[in-house]
Amino acid sequence: MVSGARSSEPSVAFSDETRAAIEAEMAKFPEPRGAMLAALRLVQEELGYIGPDAARRLAAMFGLRPVQVLEIVSFYNMFYDQPQGRHHVCLCTNLSCSLRGARTLLEGVEEHLGIRAGETTPDGRITLGREECLGACAYAPMLRVDETYHEDLDLPRVRQILDELE
Ligand code: FES
Repeated sequence: MVSGARSSEPSVAFSDETRAAIEAEMAKFPEPRGAMLAALRLVQEELGYIGPDAARRLAAMFGLRPVQVLEIVSFYNMFYDQPQGRHHVCLCTNLSCSLRGARTLLEGVEEHLGIRAGETTPDGRITLGREECLGACAYAPMLRVDETYHEDLDLPRVRQILDELE
C-alpha cells in the first residue's frame, strides 16, 4: 500500500471483551440492530468516542452503512463523535436557567476556560457544552459536571467548581 493511502479497513480495533459484550447484546434481540445503542455505549466506554473508524467497524458487525451508525451517534447527546475532555461541563441554557442568568454565566465560563461551548481545553481537562432543560429548573441556573448536578449558581461558585476538577 502506498504510504499515506487510506485503507478501506477500519484502523481501530475493539478489545475482545468489547466485541464479546456487543455480540452478547446482539443475541438478546430478534433483530440484532436492537442492540445498537448498547453497542455504542460499549464502544464509547472503550475508546472515549465513536469516530469514523469505529463507526465503520460497528457498521460491519451490524450489516449497516457507516453513515447509519454516525446518524445514531449524532442524534443522541450522550454519544460523542470526537475525542472528549476528562470532564464534561454542561451548562443548561434553557428558559428557566436563561431567565436566571445562564447565558451570562456561560460567557463567564468560556472566558474562564479560554474555550467556547463545544470545545475542549488544550490540556484535555474539560469539554464545555450546553444542555437543554435537565429538570432542575427550580434551582436555576444549574450545570452538570459529569454525572453531578450543581444548582443555584453564580460565576464565583462555578469558577471554584471548575478549578477543583483534576
Ligand atoms: S431550564 Fe435549566 S434545568 Fe430546566
